[in-house]
Amino acid sequence: MKTQILPSLLAADYGSLADEIRRAEDSLADALHIDIMDPGFVPNLSFGPDVVALCRKVAPGFYRNVHLMMRRPDLYLEPFAAAGAQTLQLHIEADCDLHRTLKRVRELGVKPAIVLNPETPVEILRPYIGEVQEILVMTVHPGYGGQKFIADCLPKISWLRERAPDLDIMIDGGGNETTIPQAARAGANQFVAGSYLFRQNDMRAAVADLRARISACARTEV
Ligand code: DX5
Ligand code: ZN
Repeated sequence: MKTQILPSLLAADYGSLADEIRRAEDSLADALHIDIMDPGFVPNLSFGPDVVALCRKVAPGFYRNVHLMMRRPDLYLEPFAAAGAQTLQLHIEADCDLHRTLKRVRELGVKPAIVLNPETPVEILRPYIGEVQEILVMTVHPGYGGQKFIADCLPKISWLRERAPDLDIMIDGGGNETTIPQAARAGANQFVAGSYLFRQNDMRAAVADLRARISACARTEV
């Protein structure tokens, strides 16, 4: 499995957003994680399609992984695809027909992924394994950056990895130099880190350090 490290733009300094997008790209991270929040689904608001378009303008070659924390993501697929989203991550807890919405994402030329909240049992994913190449296991309750990693979510990763050896399994929330190796040992191969990476003076060194720590865990390749 290919390892990926994804800085989350939610933790950037919004006073210099374009520079922060470039800083994340220059860190040699694999992709940018862009959190879209709708207060009908999480207790917060964040960005809309214009910020995704800004990322494309500022760093066209930096892959845009867009996490839709929305009650009705199915109503917003077209504007996010048009703005340059390359993956759209859809919560299984959203109020839409997930099979149909995944299909529509594919028709728009975008890669679909499924997201699972901490309180949602992993077994609910059984009918979808094989339908997507990527599953995001939330390791905090979505809505805010800077929260504590919920280690109780780790068995979900192992459950998925046992059933789907080739699946990309991502974690999001509370990722740092200690928790990311724990998730790698459980079987994850893609790692979001927001506040941990954006607070670094040298983000490139921190990304390299995370890669080294992950590669020391036997399950994934860097
Ligand atoms: C949480 C978001 C995360 C968040 C992670 O609702 O989905 O992507 O930015 O931030 P950290 O890494 O600070 O927990
Ligand atoms: Zn996220």
